[in-house]
Amino acid sequence: MAECTEVQRTAFTVSLETPGAEWVTWGRTPVRRDLELCSDATMWSMETTSLERIYLIGPPGGGKSTVAKQVAALLGWRSVDIDSLVEEASGRSIPAIFAEETEAGFRRLETTALQAAARMRETVIATGAGSCESAENLALMRASGWLVSLMVTPETAYRRLAGGSASPEDGASESDMDIAGRRPMLGGGHPLDRLRLLYQRRSRSYAEADQIIMTDDLAPDTVAGRVVGELVGRGLVSPENAAAWKRRIRVTKEQSYEALVAWGGLCRLPSLLQQLGFPERIHVVSDRNVAGLFEPALMSSLMRAGFTPLMYQVPPGEPSKSLSQLESLVDWLAERRAERGEALLAFGGGVVGDLAGFAAAIYLRGIPLVQIPSSLLAQVDASIGGKVGIDHSRGKNLLGAFYQPRLVLADPALLLTLPGRELCEGWAEVIKHGVALDAEYADTLEREADALLAKKPEPLTRVIARSVAIKASVVEEDALEADGGRRHLLNYGHTIGHAIESVAGYGTWLHGEAVAAGMMAEAQLGRHLGITPDEVVTRQRALLERYGLPTSLGGISASDLLRACLWDKKVQHGRIRWVLPSALGKAAVVSDVGDADIERALRDVGAGA
Ligand SMILES: NC(=O)c1ccc[n+]([C@@H]2O[C@H](COP(=O)([O-])OP(=O)(O)OC[C@H]3O[C@@H](n4cnc5c(N)ncnc54)[C@H](O)[C@@H]3O)[C@@H](O)[C@H]2O)c1
Repeated sequence: MAECTEVQRTAFTVSLETPGAEWVTWGRTPVRRDLELCSDATMWSMETTSLERIYLIGPPGGGKSTVAKQVAALLGWRSVDIDSLVEEASGRSIPAIFAEETEAGFRRLETTALQAAARMRETVIATGAGSCESAENLALMRASGWLVSLMVTPETAYRRLAGGSASPEDGASESDMDIAGRRPMLGGGHPLDRLRLLYQRRSRSYAEADQIIMTDDLAPDTVAGRVVGELVGRGLVSPENAAAWKRRIRVTKEQSYEALVAWGGLCRLPSLLQQLGFPERIHVVSDRNVAGLFEPALMSSLMRAGFTPLMYQVPPGEPSKSLSQLESLVDWLAERRAERGEALLAFGGGVVGDLAGFAAAIYLRGIPLVQIPSSLLAQVDASIGGKVGIDHSRGKNLLGAFYQPRLVLADPALLLTLPGRELCEGWAEVIKHGVALDAEYADTLEREADALLAKKPEPLTRVIARSVAIKASVVEEDALEADGGRRHLLNYGHTIGHAIESVAGYGTWLHGEAVAAGMMAEAQLGRHLGITPDEVVTRQRALLERYGLPTSLGGISASDLLRACLWDKKVQHGRIRWVLPSALGKAAVVSDVGDADIERALRDVGAGA
């Protein structure tokens, strides 16, 4: 079954006799329905496995309780602690149970609690360190969920349990007494000796887990991210109704590629690469954050499918879009003797997509590129349209190319681990699509905000696919950005957005944050010029605020912003071509706007002197 949604837009030109302003606008005559739902098993067989439980096992001090809460928060699940369940059920503390019933009595209660937890849905379960010593418990956990061992050396465990202060070489201290008091299994000797003994005794059981993470040098949120990253990479967080959409992007009559938006789609990557007929060797480029979360799952699934992948990692962040990083990456490809037909996978946010895409464009005059965008901004914007490039000391994105990928695979499940601020900035581009290009889409973003912000798989996948289709339909008309036509509408919010980024210093505002405040200032400008209705300004502000984006310039100097606007690359023949909403879902391109109007609009949204 293939279902289609509508993406509306057609161009017509209107010339207005507004003093000092000439503008072009786009109407709303429906064009073809061009986004396809891949629910047909032959097109996209998801074979989803619905995971209901994650058990965290491992020695004391591995961070099971803390990590359980964080994994649950990332997945939108709940977390339970087996020790707490035992205490609640028996109305006694663990030390009291040990004192009254010995360890054997405690273990019986623990098994009962585990049996109850094994019936809970969408739950992360922090187990007691000794629970997996029982073959019965281990079998129950293996049969009913995903088992993760959070390993830690006895020395680190001891330091953590003593609150980070004790040295393993110290003699018995007050904190040792505390440890033993709180944890009966560590009593009867120096806690470090007990930890070593228990570690030895239980290490074989801990090794039975599906995933083993050495946590000594990792912060709990990194450990939680790795748990989720492994599940996403294996396709284990795909709900039963896992949605998948596809859109063929036609660059020229001869050249086109597929953009797939599929929750849990990362685990389908090997078969997609096989369908494209790529040779065995695969070159993967990622940044350290993304690789830290997804590398093991991604690389092992590629290897299982018969590929020989190797990964190149760059430091996260904009500075990696540099000439020196490009040179190192090309060195790496050359040292590996990467060949013409071999694919380069750009796996990361917009930075990795732009850098690796540019390397793919120039190495051997072009090798096949596959974009696997991992941030919201990259999924809805950077990975679509074929623009790749790097920064230069004289300007952002100064060096680059138009180079189309062979495939874009956007898996919204990857966004589960994306930090809040980075997720938030991606919404600015999504809201831009609604306000400037598609009123019905803006309605959807208003109506479904709660579910989208909670990262519910179905609406999130549908909305990302819609943005992909919107961007695709605009860039298809003008793949090389040659005529400055409808593609220019994608710059809504960007003239002032770029000025904010440059005046505040790159990195102070994230790109999407600057675009959000830029959209507010540009909508105000449209209002002053009699182009943007009040209702659009109000609804846009409410949408941006709902998605946690800034709507004020926070006192940045209006004259500095104006100066920066004039330097903007979109200045053509000495004029800025402003994109201003003329109704919800419609935008106009306006030139010859006076400086006083711009400054007034900037001050209206919180610019300073
Ligand atoms: N080519 C284009 O058409 C285009 C369009 C828009 C933006 N861009 C470029 O995109 C870049 C911005 O992209 P971005 O916002 O994705 O920045 P980014 O690539 O720096 O990613 C943001 C941060 O999120 C981390 N991250 C990414 N995915 C993650 C995940 N799934 N889990 C955890 N962490 C994750 C990254 O490591 C990084 O720290 C800019 O350089 C911009 O110029 C390009």
